Amino acid sequence: MVITSKKQRTKSSGYVSRRAATIAPSGIRKFFDLLSGMEGVISLGVGEPDYTTPWHIREAAIYSIEKGMTMYTSNSGMPELRRELSQFLKKLYNLDYDPNGELLITVGVSEALDLAMRAVLNPGDEVIMADPHYVAYDASVILAEGVPVLVPTYESNNFEITAADIEARITDKTKAILLGYPSNPTGAVLEIDKLEKIADIARRHGLLVISDEIYSRLVYGIQHTCFATLQKMQEQTIFLGGFSKAYAMTGWRVGFAAGNKEVIAAMTKIHQYTIMSAPTVAQVAAIEALKAGEDDIAEMVADYNRRRLYIVKGLNDIGLPCFEPRGAFYAFPSIKNTGMTSEEFSEKLLVEEKVAVVHGTAFGQSGEGYIRCCYATSLADIEEALLRMKRFVEKHRQS
Ligand SMILES: Cc1ncc(COP(=O)(O)O)c(C=O)c1O
Repeated sequence: MVITSKKQRTKSSGYVSRRAATIAPSGIRKFFDLLSGMEGVISLGVGEPDYTTPWHIREAAIYSIEKGMTMYTSNSGMPELRRELSQFLKKLYNLDYDPNGELLITVGVSEALDLAMRAVLNPGDEVIMADPHYVAYDASVILAEGVPVLVPTYESNNFEITAADIEARITDKTKAILLGYPSNPTGAVLEIDKLEKIADIARRHGLLVISDEIYSRLVYGIQHTCFATLQKMQEQTIFLGGFSKAYAMTGWRVGFAAGNKEVIAAMTKIHQYTIMSAPTVAQVAAIEALKAGEDDIAEMVADYNRRRLYIVKGLNDIGLPCFEPRGAFYAFPSIKNTGMTSEEFSEKLLVEEKVAVVHGTAFGQSGEGYIRCCYATSLADIEEALLRMKRFVEKHRQS
């Protein structure tokens, strides 16, 4: 247990730990505080589906409440859910995970990420990750007293982290590589040949790979490769996945971690003491999603794809060059030709045109010069947002 002595306390009240004081509030949240109370805003900001959870999933959850399923479940998650998940991963990726010991049901990938870091890192251990990256990646490492090691990624390289760049940053403190593809915020994907090269490094250096594949089902015209399917990688990978994005279930708070028994047992111990078990009603909903959610995913993906094509073309047409995202539901256009920083651009766009986007630097310094636009919103809203952005860009474009 970490105890903060009086001496170590921070200057202000003295009660906040250095660990908590070190991490900054999420740049996304800070921005949305600005937005609250404003009327007529079109939001391309929050990264969540605009769909309501499919009815059959909600219905299964309602029935479970009617039947009185209101107790804690097993710490690892309902046996039926773990069995269903094990079969699902076998069918989808031909992976064998023992439902008793190799799967843990968590409160979203958020919890799984935190548990993974706390279960594997000793103070000072380094975790290599791409920049820009999902807001919780570096924070989860810092909270576990590890050190995030950032690898800048560039539009010219499709925002892909490269094996060579990873290898160049390996030290005797490196414990893990954290991958998050399809990527939030860029929409980049890593295809199998690139992943193979990263797997080769992980094998040679004995590194753990923590692979956040929450957007694995939201890919357009390509096949997602699950990192754990690569040669000898299942033992060396903590595979994180969830229900929030693919099944439009953000508010249910359910996800999973799959990995070798030793690491999953360590994660389960922390989960036991901090969470006990993921919400029972959400676990029932997750069972139904796994059993009968494929058609919903297909329908939503087809719809996201239409919006993706529309927004990427629209952004390019209004003079905000946008690389083609092939996964997740984000476009990440460059705003460099406006001469503004991404934070200035986002704030002014919100104030002057009432369009909410997220500044690229909310995801790390390599996000400077970019904004994140979530296109999981209606085509009509995207159309109107693009009109407003066109006006804004014309007004501010540097000649
Ligand atoms: C890359 C990534 N990982 C994890 C999460 C957290 O997801 P969950 O709702 O499962 O906690 C998000 C949410 O936006 C995300 O974008």
